[in-house]
Amino acid sequence: MQSTQLNQPASTSPDRSYHLDEWSKGYRSLQEEHDYWIDDIEGQIPPDLHGTLFRNGPGLLDINGQRVRHPFDGDGMVCAITFQEGRAHFRNRFVKTQGYLEEQEAGKILYRGVFGTQKVGGWLANLLDTRLKNIANTNVIYWGGKLLALWEAAEPHRLDPATLETLGLDYLDGTLKPGSAFAAHPRVDPSCALEDGNPCLVNFAIKPGLSTSITIYELDGSGKVVRQHSHAVPGFAFIHDFAITPNYCIFFQSAVSFNPLPYLLGWKGAGECITVRSDQPSRAIFIPRHGSEPVQIIPVEAGFIFHHANAFEQDGKLYVDSICYAQLPSVEPGADYLAVKFEKLDPGQLWRFQFDLKTQQVVPQLVDPRCCEFPVVHPDRVGRPNRYTYMGAAHAPSGNAPLQAILKQDWETGDRLLWSAAPHGFVSEPVFVPRPNSTIEDDGWVLTLVFDGQQERSELVILDAPTLQPVARLKLKHHVPYGLHGSFTPHCFGV
Ligand code: CO
Repeated sequence: MQSTQLNQPASTSPDRSYHLDEWSKGYRSLQEEHDYWIDDIEGQIPPDLHGTLFRNGPGLLDINGQRVRHPFDGDGMVCAITFQEGRAHFRNRFVKTQGYLEEQEAGKILYRGVFGTQKVGGWLANLLDTRLKNIANTNVIYWGGKLLALWEAAEPHRLDPATLETLGLDYLDGTLKPGSAFAAHPRVDPSCALEDGNPCLVNFAIKPGLSTSITIYELDGSGKVVRQHSHAVPGFAFIHDFAITPNYCIFFQSAVSFNPLPYLLGWKGAGECITVRSDQPSRAIFIPRHGSEPVQIIPVEAGFIFHHANAFEQDGKLYVDSICYAQLPSVEPGADYLAVKFEKLDPGQLWRFQFDLKTQQVVPQLVDPRCCEFPVVHPDRVGRPNRYTYMGAAHAPSGNAPLQAILKQDWETGDRLLWSAAPHGFVSEPVFVPRPNSTIEDDGWVLTLVFDGQQERSELVILDAPTLQPVARLKLKHHVPYGLHGSFTPHCFGV
């Protein structure tokens, strides 16, 4: 039987676990760049928690008071929280992209955003302007000695891991060409057969069109691209994330149509011209990572998917765990994202898909109706069967709402643990950090940045992963706008 344990009492609010005005304060720009040891700490930082948590997300939600239309259009800002001998250091820097520098110099928006941000002057000022601003705001990874800020539609930016100073665009030693895409969702295969069991980083690039090209890149531990192959799949594809197993890269292609006319005419952002066709099934795409087996495409009723938790092969079946929406959550043209009516939108929900690649059969299963996003697993379980999945979740067990809690799913027992920061706290993507040298899958900590809408400040909460109880709350001196993705590395830099 499945059970849910609430670690905190429910909110005092009778119908909602949050106040919309408190939530919306998490989308204020953070103008300042900080650099300090965190000294306001509740609890104790585990002494064996050692390394750096990197986070990326939109740091600027306006340029000189002119607001971006959607947070996804905000300039990337990277935070580094370094844990060393029971202490923690905070640092944040904007990714000094060409567009960031130009707009800060001009004091106004110079580029249109993919998600609807427009230059001033109405549609005429935006007509036929298809220049992209690489905003480097989606993820940040440390791999092969490089710290890379990622944005899926263009090249990575390389940063100095000690200072977070922007060093420039990175072309992976000439593999990428100027303007090449490189997705913001790399997966680390913890034990790659083609790398003698060493880890390798797997990522992809999408070139959408009438047929879409998917390129797979695999990088060895030194950061060198050791495998690269491209495949054409039918139809326009809007794909943000993927999953890997030892043998496959797996993509879910939602049925979407793209009408570029309003974009070219300067009325809408390119991302606003995508319509999800909920009357048509999605397609699961299985691209072999090596060998000559053909690409397989299997229709699946899956709604819209931003993120996958994990995938694995077991007993002749292939499993994919994903967060599915019945409809793409979108901001209506002209609507203010800060006035979003959460309850009117479909929640993201955890599903498990069981595929039989021989018979092309798929069995989808809704695991939990609770609204959730940003699922993660133990880094050593990526592509392998995992017992635990951690994700951001709504406080309430049903309905759509902001993420205020961290949920731990135990696939073996069906148990779920929930730690909630409601009513004032709003969580970000959880990151699981294993305790060094432990072989127990949940022996470690779950780190999450929590924005407190009442105090208008953020804190880094360290949860004990087995119990999902906080062991330390590190209060920052300021807020950090809601971020997207990040990663942990056991290295410490510049402290
Ligand atoms: Co993502």
